[in-house]
Amino acid sequence: MKVRKAVIPAAGLGTRMLPATKTVPKEMLPMVDKPVIQYIIEEAVAAGIEDILIVTNRAKSAMDDYFDYYPELETRLNQAGKDKELNEVRRAADLANIFYVRQKETRGLGHAIWRAKRFVGDEPFAVLLGDDIMRAAKPVTLQLVEAAEKYGASAVGVQKVDTQAISRYSSVKVSPLEERIFAVSDMNEKPKPEEMFSNYAILGRYVLTSSIFEILENVKPGYGGEIQLTDGLRELCRQEKMVAVDFEGRRYDTGNLNGFLEATIDFALDHPDTGPWLRRFIKSRAGEL
Ligand code: UTP
Repeated sequence: MKVRKAVIPAAGLGTRMLPATKTVPKEMLPMVDKPVIQYIIEEAVAAGIEDILIVTNRAKSAMDDYFDYYPELETRLNQAGKDKELNEVRRAADLANIFYVRQKETRGLGHAIWRAKRFVGDEPFAVLLGDDIMRAAKPVTLQLVEAAEKYGASAVGVQKVDTQAISRYSSVKVSPLEERIFAVSDMNEKPKPEEMFSNYAILGRYVLTSSIFEILENVKPGYGGEIQLTDGLRELCRQEKMVAVDFEGRRYDTGNLNGFLEATIDFALDHPDTGPWLRRFIKSRAGEL
C-alpha cells in the first residue's frame, strides 16, 4: 500500500467566517504571509504525496490562480531585483501537481470527497481538510500514511477532546493496537456526551481506501441534510480494517474566527519577520488590558 495522492475538500461555504468569506475563499485568507491552503499543500508534499486534487466551487477560482504562474508579476519582481518575493511566488506554483474538480452543489463533506473518485481510481489516498492547519514536528499526514501502510488499513487522525466539546466532532470506538494507534470499530457524528464512543475525535486528516467511493454513493443524507463523511467512514470501518492515529501535533481550525486568530498569533510569533515585533506588541497591549 503506497499513498501517492491527496484530496483537499475546499468547497464549503465558510459561513462561520462571513462576511470576509463572501468573495474570498476561507482557504485563501492569509496566515501571516501565506494563504491557509498553502500550509495544507505543504503538509501533503512533506508526506511524500505527488498529486493533489482540490475540490472547489464556482466562488473559489482564486485558489487555481494562486498555484499558477503569473508572468507579468514575476517579470516585474525580477526587474526590481526582488529575488526573495520572486522565489516565493514561483515556489507556490511549483509545490506539487495540483488538479481541481468542482463540487457543483454544496452537499456535504462526503459528497465533496466522492467528487474525487475519477482522480483517485483504486489507490489509497490522503484527505486533508482545507481549513485545518496542523503544526507538528512530523507532518500529521505522514504519521497517518505510515500507520495506514503498516496495517494495510484506512487511518483517521484523532485526538482527545473534552466531553463537552465532542458534540462538534465525530467520536470513534477504539481498542488499542500500540502506542498512539487503535483499531476502529464504530463512530458517530456530533454525538451528545451520553452517545459518544470515546473522547477521541476525528480531526481533519484521513487516509482512505477507494472502497469509500462506492459506500458514499449509497450514503443517505444525514446530519444537516448533507452527505456526511462520518456515515461513509462508519460503513468503511465495518467492511475493512481501519486504524485511528492519536497524532502528535496541534490542530488549528481556521474555519472559525477564534481558531483563525489563535493560528495567526502562534504562526506570527514564530515567524522571523514578525515574531520579535509581535512579542513586544502583545506585551505592551497586555499591560493596557
Ligand atoms: P466545514 O463545515 O468546516 O466547512 O467543512 P464549511 O461548510 O465551509 O463551514 P461553515 O460551517 O459554513 O463555516 C469541513 C470541510 O469540508 C469542506 C469544507 O471546505 C471544509 O474543508 N466541504 C464541506 C466541502 O468541500 N463541501 C461541502 O459541501 C461541505
